Amino acid sequence: MNFDRLIVPLDRALRTLFAPAQSARPVPGADLEEAALSDSQRQLSASLMRINHTGEVCAQALYDGQMLAAPDEPVRKLLADAAREETEHLAWTERRLAELGGRKSLLDPFFYAGSFAVGAAAGLLGDRWSLGFLAETERQVEHHLEKHLGRLPEADRKSHAILAQMQADEVGHAVNARRHGGGELPLPVRHAMRLASRVMTGTTRWI
Ligand SMILES: [Fe+2]
Ligand SMILES: [Fe+2]
Repeated sequence: MNFDRLIVPLDRALRTLFAPAQSARPVPGADLEEAALSDSQRQLSASLMRINHTGEVCAQALYDGQMLAAPDEPVRKLLADAAREETEHLAWTERRLAELGGRKSLLDPFFYAGSFAVGAAAGLLGDRWSLGFLAETERQVEHHLEKHLGRLPEADRKSHAILAQMQADEVGHAVNARRHGGGELPLPVRHAMRLASRVMTGTTRWI
């Protein structure tokens, strides 16, 4: 393993956690008017957006972990392409969270580290499992976003637009991972992943 392959993830970790993320695409819903939300509506939107921001922090870490360990160049490229869209999700959720007057989760570094380790472990198992893990993660994220779209205050169209575009992108990531040979994960692994994401969503809603 060469030095560059270690220094790049480290640089990306620091940037993910401490620098503002950038988006090449326009922020979905940027042209929509800001709705007059009540305090409780705003708080609800902000707490859901904080969860989704941490989810995108985890996505950065998972992809970086997998890229570090992925043996094949074509798979690393697939991961890098999807990771670029995840960086945009990170930027959108970060910006919307700030607009709603919310703050990022204090647990982000903890979840980043855990997700990076899981991503690297999945990468070491080889492309079939690594891509299977990726596809399953994206599938679970897509379901999770569906739930959040149902829970967001109806009036908060700007947040709706962001989560809806993220959901569409995550579907694309899952399809690509399967197309490149991602296998179906064993049921206990899928359950464990759901449990881990429940820990993340349950804690970052408040902390
Ligand atoms: Fe994402
Ligand atoms: Fe994704």
